[in-house]
Amino acid sequence: AYLGVDLGTSGLRALLVDAGGTPLGAAERAYEVQHPQSGWSEQDPSEWIAALEGAVAELRAAHPEFAGLRGIGVAGHMHGATLLDAAGEVIRPCILWNDTRSHVEAAALDAMEGVRDISGNIVFPGFTAPKLAWVRAHEPQNFARVAKVLLPAAYLNFHLTGSYFADMSDSAGTAWLDTRARGWSEALLDAGGMRRDQMPDLLEGSEAGGRLKPELAARWGLSGPVVVAGGAGDNAAAACGIGAMNEGQGFVSLGTSGVLLAARDGYRPAPETALHTFCHAVPGRWYQMGVMLSATDSLNWLARITGSTPRQLVAPLGEVLHAPGRVRFLPYLSGERTPHNDAEIRGSFTGLGAETTRDDLTRAVLEGVTFGLRDSQSALEATGLRLQRLIAIGGGSGSRYWLKLIATALNVTLDLPSGGEFGAALGAARLGMVASGDHLVEDAMTKPPTGEEITPEPALIAQFDEAYQRFRATYGAVRSVQ
Ligand code: XUL
Repeated sequence: AYLGVDLGTSGLRALLVDAGGTPLGAAERAYEVQHPQSGWSEQDPSEWIAALEGAVAELRAAHPEFAGLRGIGVAGHMHGATLLDAAGEVIRPCILWNDTRSHVEAAALDAMEGVRDISGNIVFPGFTAPKLAWVRAHEPQNFARVAKVLLPAAYLNFHLTGSYFADMSDSAGTAWLDTRARGWSEALLDAGGMRRDQMPDLLEGSEAGGRLKPELAARWGLSGPVVVAGGAGDNAAAACGIGAMNEGQGFVSLGTSGVLLAARDGYRPAPETALHTFCHAVPGRWYQMGVMLSATDSLNWLARITGSTPRQLVAPLGEVLHAPGRVRFLPYLSGERTPHNDAEIRGSFTGLGAETTRDDLTRAVLEGVTFGLRDSQSALEATGLRLQRLIAIGGGSGSRYWLKLIATALNVTLDLPSGGEFGAALGAARLGMVASGDHLVEDAMTKPPTGEEITPEPALIAQFDEAYQRFRATYGAVRSVQ
């Protein structure tokens, strides 16, 4: 058996698969994000370990196959800075991907000569390098103690193996990696005031990174050696989970963040579009994606302030898609990455009338997030890609209404995979399968069977086109008065 771990923003999911990669069972543990100040977003890494231990105990109890574990893969939320001292102790809480405190440092790094050329990306405020610049400026006593900087997945891998290693897909989100050459860049490290010895060893996500520590193996009742894979950032792992390995294959993910991702055979960065261009979790491949910071988070916010749940908001809309309404929502509750790279913009409702109902606001929120995804689609298509089909994943993909809206506003067919497992945890397990030497990438990373297809609503495509143009114009107008 193999274990896939998805270290997510709101909780950890551990998935056990059998020798052929078929899911046997999963266990989850939730944890919180701390917001000690506005724009800050932190987690204590000891919570990830407690969550992992809890999930593993549950899987062990439920599945005798766990005892035959051969490989583990870990996927993590990206860009987080876990700072360790020389003894391997955590120095301060991990600063997460959606923390925007370092936007000034990010803009400064981004403006430096050559930085975008080497990393292939804008230095976004959520990326790792500007976080370290912030720590250097604001917590010099912490900065002085930094012996290693680990991404969340790499930290869990350190806990599992005792070794410092990180995979290419996650490391590409640090702004310290030469994304074309797949290696740490001395020039980028210098620009960020960091040293090579503060970085973990680099490897491909599907390569073996280490062995599970003997004391953990004993505690978990395992006898044979267990290989721990290089691992992956969660989006690359999700791509592995749905078999998006080749040019143009991709997904739309409705999670806390909204992601539109396509695998690429080659390296064709386009930082001017605010797309992310990262290494894939397997050798010789890359992927590109647009990232929105508040996808389901926008709906969660509306639910919170109206004293309801997201499900209660969406259910009254039914399943038949309405034409776009007059109310527009800009989904920039935490600023935005693609396409604006704007940490300061905030959300807005426009077009409210005395007749506006709660359902109108719900529809506006779903439409606003959808139009944000269309912005990412436009950015991807500007690189020469034509997206005709996408697999839909993530918590928000449970809403039929939202899926029909996305299919129509993006004019793409959405495939809903059948069976319950196809996300980052499955992709991580597949990395463990390959790293153990038991499977090849091509055999492990397959596309799940499609359970259902969601097609665009032809009669409404033109109206959504027009509403999208108004959405685009609203950003500029709102920006100018904020
Ligand atoms: C990607 C990103 C998010 C996190 C979510 O660049 O920041 O999608 O990986 O976990």
